[in-house]
Amino acid sequence: MEKTIVVIKGDGIGRTKNGVLGVTDSAIKIVNAAVEKAYQGTTKLNWVEALAGEYARETNFPNLTDEELKKMTPEEQRSVYLPQTTIDLIKEHKIAIKGPLGTPIGEGFKSLNVYMRQLFDLYSCVRPVRYFHGAPSPNINAEKINMVIFRENVEDVYAGIEFEAGSAKQKKLLEFLVKELGANLDPNTDYGLGIKPMSAKGTKRLVRNAINYALEHKYKSVTIVHKGNIMKYTEGAFRKWAYEVAKEEFGDKIVLESELSGQNLEGKLIIKDRIADAMLQLVQQRPEDYGVLACPNLNGDYLSDDLAALIGGLGLAPGANIGDKYAIFEATHGTAPTLPPDKANPSSVTLSAAMLLDHIGLTEAADLVRKGIEKAVSEGAKAAGEGKKPLPLTGDLASQYKGYTGSDGINCSEYVDKVINYLGE
Ligand code: NAI
Repeated sequence: MEKTIVVIKGDGIGRTKNGVLGVTDSAIKIVNAAVEKAYQGTTKLNWVEALAGEYARETNFPNLTDEELKKMTPEEQRSVYLPQTTIDLIKEHKIAIKGPLGTPIGEGFKSLNVYMRQLFDLYSCVRPVRYFHGAPSPNINAEKINMVIFRENVEDVYAGIEFEAGSAKQKKLLEFLVKELGANLDPNTDYGLGIKPMSAKGTKRLVRNAINYALEHKYKSVTIVHKGNIMKYTEGAFRKWAYEVAKEEFGDKIVLESELSGQNLEGKLIIKDRIADAMLQLVQQRPEDYGVLACPNLNGDYLSDDLAALIGGLGLAPGANIGDKYAIFEATHGTAPTLPPDKANPSSVTLSAAMLLDHIGLTEAADLVRKGIEKAVSEGAKAAGEGKKPLPLTGDLASQYKGYTGSDGINCSEYVDKVINYLGE
């Protein structure tokens, strides 16, 4: 079998530069080794590079100044950072892996990541958060963390419908809100205004995916996370629609937490809901009570980083943006502009690549990758327990052990070699 995967290597720590291995090339190296080990040459991945971000600008428009860029329309700016050839490649091959992209400086320009999620209708952001034994964690309950966040990815305040305070459009909208809809706002105040669109269709398709995933992977519960007590017709509606899809489409496979008493729970998935702010606390205090979490866009974003911190940080947390036609797998972290170039942890993008392998049915190789990282993390913990220096971990993890700093770790390419040695152990 041969499968083509589009690769956006990313900016900053994403890209190999001046001989320093980037996190995306690290992931490809580990995945190729895992595929080789799992299938002994019978399966091959072709990685096709597509340009995006700062690197696309440097390559295609090397002489473009920031001043010239600012004068371009948002659409023109976008084509500098996300060329049509890249969009076409993803449309052709359907699956991509992406390193982090820096947000361009141009005004009125949406984040490239947000734009791509909308363009390819990647409506489910899937972020598994599982504790790797021995990983440094600030939480004593870390061993019990095994959750998967399903974050709605294209609606909510991320839709990018915002009007700058004092602008003509903002004034027009404010007037409409006050005069036509009776909104309790001062018509003479320059508010910044944003719109928070959330639909039944958008909610239901996300929650449907979350429930299917929970059933397939035998999680005990799906928790709907919302702030419906305050935002009744957006977050509150998310809760309502989520329960509707659960009851209407999965009636015999689920049980509602509110109707638990006396029921035979054998093989049934519990559906419950929690207010978002309480949830940030509950995942820390009682992580064993939570499995799959279905969240609107903004809540899901906060919760993802909160949970990532509990299992060792952003460097260990993978993610995927999945729609009905396309899927883009990406690290959850950014370009880490202040990190010394060889200090990046490639685990996040590597674990995202393992999700990609699962997605295309190469689960044996995916398991090898996860086991390789797990072993690398646990060997690091062992070395920290023995007081060894340097630790066989990248600096972000090394620095979380008592008595160690970021410079007590190894560099990215040394870590990659260790993971490859541990594949399948
Ligand atoms: P960041 O994720 O780049 O960095 C946050 C902190 O985590 C920093 O201390 C950084 O050194 C550390 N860190 C991140 N990834 C790491 C890794 N793999 N190994 C070791 N340490 C790591 O977030 P920040 O600084 O807010 O954003 C920097 C740039 O990245 C911005 O332009 C932002 O827009 C962009 N960004 C892109 C994302 C994407 O492409 N999906 C996501 C988040 C930010």
